[in-house]
Amino acid sequence: MSRSVKRLSDYQPPGFTIDSTDLTFELDATHTVVTAVLELRRLDPQLTELSLDGQQLQLLSLHYNDKLLAANEFDCTSQQLRLKVTEDTFRLTIRTQINPLANTALEGLYYANGSFCSQCEAEGFRRITYYLDRPDVLSVFRTTIIADTAHYPYLLSNGNKVEQRKLDNGQTLVCWQDPFPKPSYLFALVAGDFDLLRGDYQTRSGRMVALDFFVEKGQGGKAAFALDALKRSMRWDEQRFGLEYDLDTYMVVAVDFFNMGAMENKGLNVFNSKYVLVSEDTATDTDFFNVESIIGHEYFHNWTGNRVTCRDWFQLSLKEGLTVFRDQEFSRDMGSATVNRIHAVQVIRTAQFAEDASPMAHPIRPQQVMEMNNFYTVTVYDKGAEVIRMLHTLLGEAGFQAGMRLYFERHDGQAVTCDDFVQAMQDANHYDLSAFRLWYQQSGTPELTMQRHYEPQQQRLTLRLNQRTAATADQPDKAALVLPVRYQLLDESGNKSGLFVMQEHNETLVFDGVSAQALPVMLEDFSAPVRLKHDYSEQELLRIAMEASNGFARWDALQSCWMLWLDQAMHQNNDFRLPDAFFELYQQLLKLPLDDKALTAELLKVPEYHVFAENFQQIPVDAILSAIHSFRQQISQRLAPELKACYQQHSVVAVEYNEMNVGIRALKNRCLDYLALHGQPAETLLLQQYNSASNMTDKLAVLSACLHSAHPAFFGLMQQFATEWQHDVLVLDKWFSLHAAQPSAQVFEQITLLCQHPKFSWQNPNRVRAVFHAFAMQNPGQFHRMDGRGYQLLTDTLLKLDPINPQVSARLVTPLLSWQRFDLERQALMKAALHRLSAQPGISDDLYEKVSKALA
Ligand code: PHE
Ligand code: ZN
Repeated sequence: MSRSVKRLSDYQPPGFTIDSTDLTFELDATHTVVTAVLELRRLDPQLTELSLDGQQLQLLSLHYNDKLLAANEFDCTSQQLRLKVTEDTFRLTIRTQINPLANTALEGLYYANGSFCSQCEAEGFRRITYYLDRPDVLSVFRTTIIADTAHYPYLLSNGNKVEQRKLDNGQTLVCWQDPFPKPSYLFALVAGDFDLLRGDYQTRSGRMVALDFFVEKGQGGKAAFALDALKRSMRWDEQRFGLEYDLDTYMVVAVDFFNMGAMENKGLNVFNSKYVLVSEDTATDTDFFNVESIIGHEYFHNWTGNRVTCRDWFQLSLKEGLTVFRDQEFSRDMGSATVNRIHAVQVIRTAQFAEDASPMAHPIRPQQVMEMNNFYTVTVYDKGAEVIRMLHTLLGEAGFQAGMRLYFERHDGQAVTCDDFVQAMQDANHYDLSAFRLWYQQSGTPELTMQRHYEPQQQRLTLRLNQRTAATADQPDKAALVLPVRYQLLDESGNKSGLFVMQEHNETLVFDGVSAQALPVMLEDFSAPVRLKHDYSEQELLRIAMEASNGFARWDALQSCWMLWLDQAMHQNNDFRLPDAFFELYQQLLKLPLDDKALTAELLKVPEYHVFAENFQQIPVDAILSAIHSFRQQISQRLAPELKACYQQHSVVAVEYNEMNVGIRALKNRCLDYLALHGQPAETLLLQQYNSASNMTDKLAVLSACLHSAHPAFFGLMQQFATEWQHDVLVLDKWFSLHAAQPSAQVFEQITLLCQHPKFSWQNPNRVRAVFHAFAMQNPGQFHRMDGRGYQLLTDTLLKLDPINPQVSARLVTPLLSWQRFDLERQALMKAALHRLSAQPGISDDLYEKVSKALA
């Protein structure tokens, strides 16, 4: 293991490049032979040595031009292949052998579930052959695949199929050619037997594109929604960004063994099957939403990521922040814009703010990295998207699009930096973005404080704004950032809105001619990724929640109310009663829901544990959980008739996934969630919905309502559910997660049983996450138990998992890293768990990087 840190400041352009890459794969589960013919060109005439990356490869032979090299003519270690070079252009022929079946890390070429599949981002290609495995080396790929015809009727790689023939030994040979030069991380190979769902798409300029979805046998019917979503993405990118697809085929393969959500390999996306396969009876509305947004995300990468790629991995946000921004805009056009924004903001306020406050804090463009896989984070992705969104806010849609056009004009076919992107935005708009660039290098969550002063004589309202970013684990000193602050002034004379661009630590904003009652709503739509501290009273917040024309502002004001109430509940030992004005608001929402039912359902929700937790430096786990419980009880008792009536009014809804139906189901199931707290009398309602449900959203809503209310019907229904769905692993994952979230000590025995379930597998990231991510993230009460059992379970799991799949173990360790945010007893327990991990011999770089930072 290397355990070495790479720094952005050490970047050197490549000394050699690879003009063409010709690969031949003789596929075999345990003995695959890869022949790579590389046409190399020296870029730096000073260089006399070439060094190629490699990992876990067995070198069979090496030719320099046509000459077979003897072992003493090159240097081959476990990480590198080095040789002396005298010519400016030359050819290397490298034969390596790999073992895809033994590859449980699912990085490089792996064999799982009867098929071969590859995953090369970020540095997986070096597990296939020796190569310049870095994104700024772009090469034209030709890929030949030879495999047994009966087992692997489909042999797929990037680009266009140029040859296919049967060999006389029962094997087939297929050859693919990708005309677009690309870095190795976008290479892909898939071989297997699949159901194939085909569609087509005519681009704006009239070209026909074949759309091929390859999914597990028998699952073809469940890919139809994803295929449609792909067509919608293609149309949307033409209309909004003027970008068209560039190859004749677009292939998507869905596999059950996958480390992440999906991968944008050129012309051949590989997806985690849970983000392709949906049908109303097996998938929830949230699953449908995720499929559409991830299909969009990977498709949008074709321009933002593939046509223009990253110079080095520190620039990851160049493609990810931008592509998340694009997929969020797409989703917003497909469904409830407000609710989509709310969900995106929640990701920032919970997971991203938590990351900033953790030992893993980093800017959207990290400055140093040990294991790149650890930097596919909410900071790089989601905060990165917020940074792009701020550019959009500053420049406006037309200016932003002008910047995008200039970016493609300048950089199509290149590997570039985040600076290149900002420069294109700057030049296209003649807008000075030099101060804005700090967002790329400064980590941490800015705190924006607002204080009001009203002068009745002048009818003048002055807002004093102050920004301050606390030190993070990676950076002690912080400067002032450019903050686009959208605001709206609520007063009798109507709403005034505008944009204030804050640049300094302290600034003032003055409104003249406003009444004493005027209320400024700041940071509308979360126009900058900051924590806002304001001086509103409960009454004022409730006024915003009732009167603001902007749905997001209403929701946001309610979020602030919840924080106030939590604070009061904590100080009053839970004698605290929610105020009457709050119940009036809820009553009104239940009686007369907004047109946007999904938004109504959001407004009617008590925030989850993580939302509350992120507002504390030291998280009072037990107080939060008991306050949430009390809030929910109060709502369900005080508003029982209204909840019931609203539930009944919205109980009949067509099964189809569309914005209206999704909203109605969300509202109805929010009511059910409160009604379930009525114990015995609720049982009929719960069973009735469960048994008559025509879709997974409604079924699962019953189970989670039972779970949240500790309703005894839970266990019987879970058993019934298991019998019904034991054949479908993606549905079983939901069942695993529900069990793991069960808020009682029984969960420990339950998890032992789950791990013995015939469908559970330590090799499969979806299964492992279904159990343990749910346990660590959705079961705070048991995970943070004072006897340390929760931390111990997670630690045992990580020790077992790390040798199998380091990427997955390094993701699961996250909740242990923030030990400093808990009380002393918990701190000691969590630290002991981290020490156990770090003492383990042979722990992966992935896990080591995080654990060592947490213990530093
Ligand atoms: N690049 C992928 C995406 O964002 C994510 C990914 C990273 C997948 C690394 C696999 C491995 O769409
Ligand atoms: Zn992406």
